[in-house]
Amino acid sequence: MDKFVIRGGKPLKGEITVSGAKNASLALMPAAILANGTVKIYNTPRLNDVFTMSKLLNSLGATTELNDHELIINAQTINNQVAPYELVKKMRASFYVLGPLVSKFGYAKVSLPGGCAWGPRPINLHIEGLKRLGAQIDLEDGYIVAKAKKLHGARINFDTPSVGATGNVLMAAVLAKGGTIINNAAMEPEISNLAEFLVKMGAKISGINTSILEVEGVDYLDFAAIETIPDRIEAGTLLVAAAMTKGEIKINNLEVKHIYSIIAKLEESGLKMTYNGNHIKINAADFSPKSINVATGPFPGYPTDMQAQWIAYMAVADSSATITDNIYFDRFAHVPELMRLGADITVKDNSAVVKGVKKLKGAKIMSTDLRASASLVLGGLAAEGTTEVLRIYHLDRGYENLEMKLKALGADIERVKTEEF
Ligand code: EPZ
Repeated sequence: MDKFVIRGGKPLKGEITVSGAKNASLALMPAAILANGTVKIYNTPRLNDVFTMSKLLNSLGATTELNDHELIINAQTINNQVAPYELVKKMRASFYVLGPLVSKFGYAKVSLPGGCAWGPRPINLHIEGLKRLGAQIDLEDGYIVAKAKKLHGARINFDTPSVGATGNVLMAAVLAKGGTIINNAAMEPEISNLAEFLVKMGAKISGINTSILEVEGVDYLDFAAIETIPDRIEAGTLLVAAAMTKGEIKINNLEVKHIYSIIAKLEESGLKMTYNGNHIKINAADFSPKSINVATGPFPGYPTDMQAQWIAYMAVADSSATITDNIYFDRFAHVPELMRLGADITVKDNSAVVKGVKKLKGAKIMSTDLRASASLVLGGLAAEGTTEVLRIYHLDRGYENLEMKLKALGADIERVKTEEF
């Protein structure tokens, strides 16, 4: 078990490059199931969730090899279409294999994802979408069993945009017979990265980057290579870290257009930034943030995966801000831990009212989930004194070498082995 020991108050200074996007990798990897041949996925982040997805693909019979950040997958050796509970319960994105498996093999048995640190995280849109494409779906002992002789095209409408359901249905539709329209599709960049990969394999998809995807099914998908997009959530997290520590950093090699909503909110809080297509500079020396309200929404709105980080940021702002999560109504496990640093936060329904305090004070705090742990690290970086963040395994799911990146920017942060849980 690891913890971070952080001595706060050091301004972050320097240049950094973000890793490939976790949520792009977790969509690109299952897509390999559809390819006839070996695929290459460049800029793959070395994260526990990526290792878990590799284990899942291996359990199906595929071979995976990660050399540095180049991931090679050959799914032609798949001889099993069952995704076991032991793996799916570790990572709900495992559910992404359902669409490609039933589309390619006509059969898939995938464990229901099970619980998460917050919820509920339903899968009804995945199921309804696959049923519309002609899959027969049954629930057997906690597993979803999907069968189809040959999927057929359909018109699919999502009541709410869903990243996972859009990915699953898209990966099913590309090999279905006939045309499919996915209306109210998720527009997250990770879905566009997936669609681009499928097109490189020979899929016929139009409307990429829009909420209406049109697919013309094909019989065969070839192998292909794809570059994983930079992680917009890691970039946003580092920008907030620089703002909270009154630092001055430059982030290279990111898609600035993927974080316009985050930039807009940071600028509203009084931050000066300069940016072009793929780098951004922030100078927060002698800066104190204004309290700014945020409400999360589907892309291109403000991302729920940056909600916890904004609460940490507003904890040291000048008055009171309300942060509302319209995607997950109870994603606030980080709040009691931030309050141990002295933050003044009140949660009611799916909103948190954050009254800024002059200074946070270091304490021992505990991670509960991936983005919560990021917000606790942000709090520790800004706090006076020493903060210990326990259960860092949550953070290792979605941030590659975060402490090395922060150390390179001047943070006083150590990863320490501990028996504490
Ligand atoms: C993806 O989860 C991300 N995970 C999440 O990131 C992210 O928070 C989420 O999208 C929202 O952006 C991956 O990409 C691996 P959704 P996903 O389906 O696909 C409702 C992180 O920290 N919904 O887009 O599971 C759902 O309740 C993780 O990196 C249904 O109602 O999220 C939610 O309110 C956490 N029925 C909304 O849609 C369904 O069948 C969006 O969820 C599916 C979803």
